[in-house]
Amino acid sequence: MAESDLTVTLSRPSDVAFARQAAMQAMTSIGASAIKKTKFVTAVSEIARNAIVYGHGGRISFEIVGNGSQRRVVAECTDRGPGIADVNQALKDGFSTGKGLGLGLSGARRLVDRFKITSSSDTGTTVILECACR
Ligand SMILES: Nc1ncnc2c1ncn2[C@@H]1O[C@H](COP(=O)(O)OP(=O)(O)OP(=O)(O)O)[C@@H](O)[C@H]1O
Ligand SMILES: [Mg+2]
Repeated sequence: MAESDLTVTLSRPSDVAFARQAAMQAMTSIGASAIKKTKFVTAVSEIARNAIVYGHGGRISFEIVGNGSQRRVVAECTDRGPGIADVNQALKDGFSTGKGLGLGLSGARRLVDRFKITSSSDTGTTVILECACR
């Protein structure tokens, strides 16, 4: 990936693979360590899957910020779904309104260097994930 932004549309379950690929490319382009790549790709996977399963689809975009050893990848995933009624509850290990284990959001938060979620019933859900190269 060059310095240009990259956006992946999330409509169906198979689109998670494209989001993973884009996440990997972005992390490779900043020279991220193998462990950081794995962490970020896993977090992106969970958030993209939630956008498809619960958010009626959306998109995830990747951006590279900072310079030199400070370079980071920022992913922003947005959907226009019903939103999350109680974000703090949704972030707890084991909370799921579906058939999942309820570990996607809490796990993703632990795997990245910055995690921000905003959600409401009229705007849907936006999750920002940021990961440094080391
Ligand atoms: N984008 C979203 N839109 C609406 N609700 C969401 C969204 N993402 C998560 N949620 C809600 O938060 C809950 C917790 O999400 P989380 O990813 O932690 O668990 P899960 O998807 O249910 O299970 P798992 O990810 O472990 O398979 C979900 O069950 C769902 O109710
Ligand atoms: Mg999930």
